[in-house]
Amino acid sequence: MFNKGLLDTLQALGDERGGTSVSGIHSAPVMAQGSLPTAEDVRRAAARLASAPAPAQCVLTPLLSSPALDEACEGARVWVKAECLQRGGSFKYRGALHALLRLREAGRDGRGVVAFSSGNHAAALARAGADLGVNVKVVMPDDAPAAKVEAARRAGAHLVFYSRSRGESREELGAEIARVEGRELVKPFDDPEVIAGQGTCGLEIARQLKESFPGGTVPGRVVAVVPASGGGLVAGVSLALREAFGEEGVDVWCAEPRGLDDHARSLAVPGREARLANPDGAEGAKTTLCDALMAPQPGEITWQVNRATLAGGLAVSDDEALDAVGAALAHLKLVLEPGGAAALAAAMGPESRKRMLGSSHAPVAALVVVASGGNIDPAVLALALDRLQRGRSS
Ligand SMILES: Cc1ncc(COP(=O)(O)O)c(C=O)c1O
Repeated sequence: MFNKGLLDTLQALGDERGGTSVSGIHSAPVMAQGSLPTAEDVRRAAARLASAPAPAQCVLTPLLSSPALDEACEGARVWVKAECLQRGGSFKYRGALHALLRLREAGRDGRGVVAFSSGNHAAALARAGADLGVNVKVVMPDDAPAAKVEAARRAGAHLVFYSRSRGESREELGAEIARVEGRELVKPFDDPEVIAGQGTCGLEIARQLKESFPGGTVPGRVVAVVPASGGGLVAGVSLALREAFGEEGVDVWCAEPRGLDDHARSLAVPGREARLANPDGAEGAKTTLCDALMAPQPGEITWQVNRATLAGGLAVSDDEALDAVGAALAHLKLVLEPGGAAALAAAMGPESRKRMLGSSHAPVAALVVVASGGNIDPAVLALALDRLQRGRSS
């Protein structure tokens, strides 16, 4: 069974580029850990995901717009890629499924896999493992949102918890489990196969955006903003968008929680030489409602892509993220988690929006926001609703 959306996306791209063969995927060389993913790898990933056996199918998530949201962004033409509607509730299913399909092709999935994750990667890998019949163990923080823990548990994954506040290393724990149990480690972002899988979100955006304009041509520059933690999603999306619109046709920005904006600060270093860590060091030393965006510093592989492709980074506060959760609900009828709403918060913030739109030399035709996930606990959703309610009554 084929995912029609991804298949159409590939077909459209193949038509533009003189043909990309979906059936050619099995002859693709396995990417070495540490090699840099390319736009070509993202297209191969889309073909592989499209041909995954049911029920392991990515959802073609909609690219939404709303006059009320445009108004909230002072007339910018905003498009929201609703990855909160992806299988498992976040874009993470794309990369997790792609990594598992690659391991299966290489005959390396038999003893199961292990992952460390603040939540969504764990939940997505658990879901993809259940869909493909692969045994999954996940290492999650003991303060992970209940919604994400439950999603992983429901999908049948074995759960192991670690403490962020005591500075326990999830990387060491994951590597130890992989060694002792013979499982393959599926990293949350610093893996070329995972990045290529996440990039399929960007392929869809390019196709959906083009289809939204007469003649299939976007009449101006595209600016895109993507939430970042380790930088896998924004790396994959930027590879896809820069190929689809040309390097001059698109600016890609990342959005992070204020104080945990390691990408923004690293991107601001002249020459982008440094891969800076968060000021407080270890993951979790600073807290944020954007629990999905707490990686201590950009990944090594993701940074090699992002330092070369991103226009810059933007920081959003928890209150701004909550207001974006409220706006998504009010204007788009979407449920987002705060981390999943970080890019929308950057688009709604006058300063950050000005930076994005102002830095573009040509007129901007579309401001694309990736709404990356919707696995929110009810108590946090209540906070967002309360702010929405108070905003309306004031
Ligand atoms: C909802 C959501 N958005 C964005 C991200 C950032 O992804 P990446 O680590 O690839 O930057 C994550 C990571 O867990 C996430 O769960």
